[in-house]
Amino acid sequence: MRIAFFDSGLGGLTVLSAAMKKLPKEDFLFYADTLHVPYGSKPGEAVKQYIHESVKTIMREEVKAIVVACNTATSLAIAELRSMYDIPVIGMEPAVKPAVEQNRATGKRVLVFATPLTLKEAKYIDLVKRVDDMNIVDSIPLPELVQYCEALNFDKGVIADYLAGKLDGVDLNQYGTVVLGCTHYPFYGKLLADILPPHIQIIDGRTGTVNRLVQVLKARHLLSAEGQEDLKFLCSSNSVQYIEKMKEALSLLNRMEGESENDDW
Ligand code: SIN
Repeated sequence: MRIAFFDSGLGGLTVLSAAMKKLPKEDFLFYADTLHVPYGSKPGEAVKQYIHESVKTIMREEVKAIVVACNTATSLAIAELRSMYDIPVIGMEPAVKPAVEQNRATGKRVLVFATPLTLKEAKYIDLVKRVDDMNIVDSIPLPELVQYCEALNFDKGVIADYLAGKLDGVDLNQYGTVVLGCTHYPFYGKLLADILPPHIQIIDGRTGTVNRLVQVLKARHLLSAEGQEDLKFLCSSNSVQYIEKMKEALSLLNRMEGESENDDW
């Protein structure tokens, strides 16, 4: 039985790659809803339907757990999915809580980058209300970063220009931490670290999700004791080219994240 990872497109690969490192004996399935990517700038009701259709398709495969490796989809549908399926359904959470803790003593603020839909949904608003007891959390939607990622555009000049436009008038000196609240964005972790001032820490929610996955599989006695990692790719458009792109993006990500800090892209 496989552990399924689901996203609108390539972003969930950033979570999958972290899980594969932690769970080398498991078999994985990665499903991208390529017919409807990107999710984060579309109307919520329509996206909810896409999510349910995607998960229904995933459930036709032999899967023992689903990781909704997409912040937008988690915000919109995780509660419904959990009530509909018996297998564990794990979601994403923007790392706002650790970011607030990191800045408790620094006097600095926290800046969350996510999709417009994630930032609009009650799940995110409730999270901030719950953990931001010092009122230090701000947010900026970066929908085009998802599209740059889908186009595998990692041109530093393009991304720096895009970010400069989005951060126009923002005093970055007041921020201690940037939270990447969309699973596509860690593809840009290294570029963002180069572009943003060096005092800013960049964090994302992948570790929390992968730890939760391991914990839940262990509690339900679903961890594989032996075997060799196997990975199957599917996408809603059944595109052979997109499956090749997913493979390319995953190996690119592994290369980027394996590189030392001084290496160029
Ligand atoms: C998107 O499809 O717009 C990005 C999904 C995410 O929030 O991770």
